[in-house]
Parts: sequence; C-alpha cells; structure tokens
Amino acid sequence: MSSDNIDFIYQEKIFTIKNPDSNETLLNYIRTKLKKTGTKEGCAEGGCGACTVVLGELKNNEINYQAINSCITFLPTLQGKQLILVEDLISKEGHLHPVQQAMVNYHGSQCGFCTPGFVMSLFSMFKKNSKFKNDEIKDSIAGNLCRCTGYQPIIKAAKSLKNKNKNDQFRKNKKNTIKLLKKINNKSIVIYSDGKKYFAPRYITELKKILKKNIDVNFLSGGTDLSLIVTKERKNINSIVYMNSIRELNYIKNNNKYIEVGASTPLIELENYIKKYYPDFTKILKRYGSTQIRNVATVAGNIATASPIGDCLPLLLSLNGKVVLQDLKKTKIISLDDFFISYRKTRLQKGQFIHSIRIPLFKDNTFKAYKISKRFDDDISSVCAAFNLEIVKNKIQSVRIAYGGMAAIPKRAIYCEKIFSNSVVTDSIIEKAKKALEKDFSPISDMRASRLYRMEVAKNLLEKFCVEIKQKKLIGVYF
Ligand SMILES: Cc1cc2nc3c(=O)[nH]c(=O)nc-3n(C[C@H](O)[C@H](O)[C@H](O)COP(=O)(O)OP(=O)(O)OC[C@H]3O[C@@H](n4cnc5c(N)ncnc54)[C@H](O)[C@@H]3O)c2cc1C
Ligand code: FES
Ligand code: FES
Repeated sequence: MSSDNIDFIYQEKIFTIKNPDSNETLLNYIRTKLKKTGTKEGCAEGGCGACTVVLGELKNNEINYQAINSCITFLPTLQGKQLILVEDLISKEGHLHPVQQAMVNYHGSQCGFCTPGFVMSLFSMFKKNSKFKNDEIKDSIAGNLCRCTGYQPIIKAAKSLKNKNKNDQFRKNKKNTIKLLKKINNKSIVIYSDGKKYFAPRYITELKKILKKNIDVNFLSGGTDLSLIVTKERKNINSIVYMNSIRELNYIKNNNKYIEVGASTPLIELENYIKKYYPDFTKILKRYGSTQIRNVATVAGNIATASPIGDCLPLLLSLNGKVVLQDLKKTKIISLDDFFISYRKTRLQKGQFIHSIRIPLFKDNTFKAYKISKRFDDDISSVCAAFNLEIVKNKIQSVRIAYGGMAAIPKRAIYCEKIFSNSVVTDSIIEKAKKALEKDFSPISDMRASRLYRMEVAKNLLEKFCVEIKQKKLIGVYF
C-alpha cells in the first residue's frame, strides 16, 4: 500500500501532511507552517548548524535520536519519524531542559542566533548515552558555528551534563512515542504534487517497479549533495526516489574477505564499524562534514557524485573497492578503478542504482589516509591521499595509492605505484616516487588551493607516509 500523505510524530501526536511539496525543506515547513521560529536559517547548505533539529527513529525497538540539518532535508523524508525542535525541550511545567540550563549556567550564548542549533546538537548527544568526553563533545558540535560566544563556554556547558539526571520528558514519554512510531512506520510514499513526483519505496522490488516507469528519476539518499540544487541553485527537482526509506539497503556485512555497505547506510555507522579494520578510514570520516551530515549522508551518494574531492573515494580506490550496481534485471559489480569517467561523470546508467559498496579486507597490509583542508572540521579537502601497502621482508609486495583533489576525478597514482613496486623504501625511492606524482597528476588552481600547493602537499603526504612506515608508526589493519 502506498500513500500520498506523510505521517510523523510531533509533540507526542501523529501529524499528517497531505500531498507535501517534495522540494520543500523541513526548515521552511518548521518556520512557516508550524510557525516555530526557534530553528534558524544561516547558510541553507548544511554548513553552519543554525537549522539543527533532532529526528527520532525506531531502531531495534529503541528510539535513535539524530541531529540533522533541516535546511537540506526535504519535508517528505520526515515520514515515519519523530520531529523534535528547540521549543519542545522545555518541560510542561516550564523547566528548561538540562542542556538549555547548562548553556545558561555557563554563559553559552550571546546574540543567540546559533544557540538553538547548538542546543539541539548537544541534546542529541545527551540522548545517546554519551560519556561526555572531550572528543565526543567536539564531534557533536563541529557542525555548529558561533560568531560571538566562542566555543569554550559551550564546551564547558556540555561537560557539565555528564552528571545530570537523564530522566527528561522524552524518556518519560518513550513508551508512547515508540507506540506511535510503530503505527506510522509502515508505508511507502508516492506523491504527485505541483508537477513533481516523489517516491519513497520500502523494498528493492518496489524501487524496481518505480524505475521501470520513471527512468529519469533522481536518487535521493542523505540529500547532502542533491538538495543543494534546490536550496542554492534555486532549481526544482521534478522526480525523486528516496533511497534511505529502503531498509534492505541499510546494512553492513562482513565475510572476512570484504565489508559490504548497503547503499542507504549512513556514514556515521560506517565510521563506527570500520575503525577496527581501517582506523584511518574512521579518522577521515570524523572530519567528513559534521555529525549532522554524516547522520544521513551515504558512501553511495559520495560515489555517485564522483566529486574529485569526495573523501571516501581515494580511500576506496586504494583499498580496491567495488561498487555493486543493479537495474531491473541484472546485478553488476564494477571496480571503482573503472567507475569514474570524467569530472562528476560515472559509469552509472539510467535505470541503474548503487546497491552496495564492497571494501576488501587486506589483512597483511598497512593502510593510511590523510586529509588536508583549510579548517580541521567540516571542510572540503584540498588534497586527500590514501596508501595501501603490503611489505614482505622489507620489500613492497603490493601497493595502491590514490589521491583526491589532484585531478578531475579521484584517481590512482599509477606511475608512483610503479616506482614503489618490488622496491625497498629508501630515500632515493621516495624521491623518485615524489617525482612520479608529477607524471600522474596536473592539478588545477581554485579557491581551495593553487596547483603548486596541491602538488607540494601531495608529495609531502607521500613522504610523511614513507617516514611513518620506516619509523614503524604503523596504523595497520587489526583483526
Ligand atoms: C556541509 C557539507 C559538508 C560536506 N562535507 C563533505 C566532506 O567533508 N567530504 C565529502 O566527501 N563530501 C562532503 N560533502 C558532500 C556530501 O555530503 C557527500 O557527497 C555525501 O556523501 C553525499 O551523500 P548523500 O547520501 O547525501 O547523497 P545525495 O545528496 O542524496 O545524492 C548525491 C548524488 O548521488 C546520487 N545517489 C544517491 N544515492 C544513490 C544510489 N543508491 N544509487 C545511485 N545514485 C545515487 C544522487 O542522485 C545524487 O546525484 C558535504 C556536504 C555538505 C552539505
Ligand atoms: S542553515 Fe546553515 S546548516 Fe542549515
Ligand atoms: S551566540 Fe551569536 S553566533 Fe553564537
């Protein structure tokens, strides 16, 4: 059964929106229809956190609370979820939520424009049984910008939450919320509104039926790239199929040879899972956008954009990643080496979607990755480099090196790899390998970095990697 209404939980009630506009942002709905203006618009592109709200979703019979950017979330994706706004944190008796009270106690707000966003990011951390460690706190607010207070009072406020009673109104209402979420959780959505089509199938079979009749549909996963067509380019997206509604595609499996990541699995889950196998993969993901972005964005979305500065892509290339594609009839497995054709162009054909991504497990290799950007947090790479190396008796047995930000597509450094192959890592080999990068890449200058800077950084990262393996500062693969 499909419906053209979406249902969500707000203030412990089921809300229904009939035939919503599939291009309307959640932020717009909150401010103009719900008339709740605590949630702010700053950048309208997921970069400042002023629009942060929290969504509750059922996961293993519990509510999983996630902070998201409402400015780049399309309204119909609210189907089946609980919406929590800054206005909802105050209790019925008029008491501030512990997170709000902490911000008051530690002077965490001045002009107040960013404050609702910070409060909601900290609220989601509060609800996740956080240990309130420094790293967790910084991670949870890395996607929130403040121009006047400064971050120290906010961090102090966050730390003070450690010993606070966690028994807030959301915990008290949990049973009822779960009951309501179960009631609305179970339907596929088909909306024809204002000349636009929106589909949110629940199964792959439904998706394929949709694709049969709608070959030109735009796949929407986390929407952290696609939504900017509406919010920044001010264009319409007339036909959308929402992939993150397909639970079958939200998984991480491991058969000891490779990790398989379903297309609708959020990056935040991969970040936690892959740490044990490739700690440097997690290190890079921690600097990928913000928690709000990683709570919804997917590897599939990152691959499909084929952006030269997509952070997963050099890592996956160096790990010999494969992409599993499906269309109405067939499944195809393509090596990422062959997937990117030219600037933002891939081998993905009409009617074909990314089903999953396979990340081989190299048990005897060393894998390292580095990201260079102007800011540490929530910034796009100038250069990203990944190295995957097997050394046997001091000799390099196999090597895969890939860079982002150095060409029109994320790309392997084939000439550089040839220098390393069957060699011992000596100073002269390092120099030759650095020189070979000039054959592999001719980077461009843009607002992020100049051509010369990119090449210099690429060489330096190569040298850094070699020095680290020589000094045995290895961050290897752990099983
Ligand atoms: C504030 C901000 C910070 C960011 N920081 C980073 C960063 O640090 N590093 C980085 O690499 N990127 C970053 N990005 C870019 C973006 O988050 C990533 O590219 C992300 O992985 C896209 O995934 P998504 O699920 O949101 O894709 P979407 O936006 O939903 O889709 C992106 C593209 O992929 C296609 N697509 C999605 N799913 C599928 C599928 N299953 N099959 C076929 N095609 C599909 C869509 O049609 C669309 O063309 C940032 C974006 C923002 C807004
Ligand atoms: S308004 Fe800046 S992140 Fe949404
Ligand atoms: S308090 Fe003014 S921007 Fe943060």
